[in-house]
Amino acid sequence: MDLKTKHLLDIASLSKEEIEDILNLAENLKEILYRPIPKVPTLRGKLIIYLFYEPSTRTRFSFEKAAKTLSADTLTFTGKGTSIEKGETLLDTIKNLEAIGADLFVIRHPVAGAPHFVAKHSKVSIVNAGDGTHEHPTQALLDLLTVREKLGTLSGLKIAIVGDIKHSRVAHSDILAFQKMGSTVYVSGPAQLLPDLKEEDYYKITKGGFKICYKLEEAIKEADVVIALRIQKERHGEALVPSFLEYHEFFGLKPEHLELIKEKAILMHPGPINWGVELAYEMEKYPFQVILDQVENGVAVRMAILLKLLTGEKNYENLN
Ligand code: CP
Repeated sequence: MDLKTKHLLDIASLSKEEIEDILNLAENLKEILYRPIPKVPTLRGKLIIYLFYEPSTRTRFSFEKAAKTLSADTLTFTGKGTSIEKGETLLDTIKNLEAIGADLFVIRHPVAGAPHFVAKHSKVSIVNAGDGTHEHPTQALLDLLTVREKLGTLSGLKIAIVGDIKHSRVAHSDILAFQKMGSTVYVSGPAQLLPDLKEEDYYKITKGGFKICYKLEEAIKEADVVIALRIQKERHGEALVPSFLEYHEFFGLKPEHLELIKEKAILMHPGPINWGVELAYEMEKYPFQVILDQVENGVAVRMAILLKLLTGEKNYENLN
């Protein structure tokens, strides 16, 4: 996290220590969510504006819950019914919302780099809530927290990510995040959805391991963590997979795969899930499926990020 300019734009610019710091804070903050009245006054008087130019359930509502738990005020902007429809630019929108009193923007945008562009011109903190096919840093942080909580470590693990690696901002952030923490990431999916060499070089900027597997079995064999990604049939008019049925046949995770992964390997998915495509319906009953734990951890991780960016403090003893 760039604390000097107070933005969280990507995993690429976070150090291992900064990631650990966020995870430790999130772990401590979780306790607040289980109190009879899960609310603390820490961010009273701060205004957080959500700019969601794409649909979202988990990210948007967990950010809302995180802000409300910390007593911040929130406004949500989805483009509909605003001057975006009259042609107002992203930057003008930001400047006007700053003038209204925003202290922090959480931005989801279909264009890769949009939050970085805004951060260059904004006076207040920017959090990337997913930008095109680039990154989804808060998803990666909540994935790390979930794995650390369930397996007790983030180092020396085999992480298998299955699906549309090439277009997935979750995969791009997860690949960097898990490598930075000392795990090896194996990716698998249809050849047209795997990264090209240039992207592979990008993933190698960290010291951990990274491997592309053309066969699903190679990626998930002896895995500690399996992350299935949502498959989109089309993206921007381009056909990505010819048929969901065929995808499920070759890359869908099914009960028969349980023999390959480690005995207590955890199964994750960022959501929304296409049941019967990336995950067989039976996988919902797998005892180490932690998909809703990921969602729950999303609230704590986003509380930690809002606190860090809006207060800049190192210690948070006064959270009563
Ligand atoms: N994981 C995730 O980003 O889900 P949403 O699109 O519902 O926010």
